[in-house]
Amino acid sequence: MGSNLELVKYQNFWFLTTPLKNILHYQAHFKARDSDIILASLPKTGTTWLKSLLFTIVNRTNPDHQPLINKSPLLNNLGVYGGNPLLPSPQQLHDEPPSTLRLLHSHLPYASLPESIKSSSSCKIVYIARNPLDTFVSQWHWHANLLKNRVGDHDELEPPSIEDFFESFCQGKFPYGPYFNHVIEFWKQSLEQPNKILFLKYEDLKSDQVVLQLKKLAEFVGFPFSSQEENEGLIKDIIKLCSINNLKDLEVNKNGFMNKFVKKKDFFRKGEVGDWINYFTPTMVERINNLMEEQLKGTDLSF
Ligand code: A3P
Repeated sequence: MGSNLELVKYQNFWFLTTPLKNILHYQAHFKARDSDIILASLPKTGTTWLKSLLFTIVNRTNPDHQPLINKSPLLNNLGVYGGNPLLPSPQQLHDEPPSTLRLLHSHLPYASLPESIKSSSSCKIVYIARNPLDTFVSQWHWHANLLKNRVGDHDELEPPSIEDFFESFCQGKFPYGPYFNHVIEFWKQSLEQPNKILFLKYEDLKSDQVVLQLKKLAEFVGFPFSSQEENEGLIKDIIKLCSINNLKDLEVNKNGFMNKFVKKKDFFRKGEVGDWINYFTPTMVERINNLMEEQLKGTDLSF
């Protein structure tokens, strides 16, 4: 029975069938600019959080941009791309004035990114990774919600059982999976091209290293914090503004839909490290740990 999603394999990764056409269009037509910042991730690894942080960091001195209070990070000027037909087309992005700083987001694996992002522009890529156990749990909740929201439209779609979803996850069969191939490709590229790709971990952002991580992020994208800003507590203010409890309580994020089936509030669930413990059986832990050991061998990467 699997994950109950309609998937197709393309360039060794799995994609939902509907957005694939858009993805191919973007691959062929998107033109990156040197000033672009591309946020790359697997779904449910903290993308919305990183979007909020990046948006706040790069716009902190821009009087034309309200902070996230009045604007959902899901709907701000981040031209999210990767296949959602509701989001800006390559032509619309192309037409943005040259002075616009474009923050773009993609779930595409590294190999499938448009060439103009990878090689013919000096745009920056920030990748966020999250441990596979919490990523899995978050994806399972997400898909269960998504299918629940579709009831009435597609009554035959039952939310997947956690066992079936886990099987698909381990086989890499979920949107933009396999998990390890996606993460490892970006990890290797970040080591080979440290000025082009910054690799961040969700767990580091949740730890007491967060200030250090934000300083690294701000510097990487060309908006370093000054000593004065740091001394005035600006970094801590940004962390507070972008915390899940703050974002979750804002009216702009509480109500409404991103598209027909996706509720904005579903992007903000628990936001914790280690929630997997509430869902994994010992057999599941053993299986994912074995997979992790096998896949990450020789990479220097750990979760
Ligand atoms: P959980 O389902 O584990 O709570 P994405 O944005 O890539 O779709 O990831 C969603 C995950 O990030 C969800 O994880 C969500 O709750 C969490 N998240 C959203 N905003 C966050 C924030 N400000 N801080 C930490 N985690 C956040």
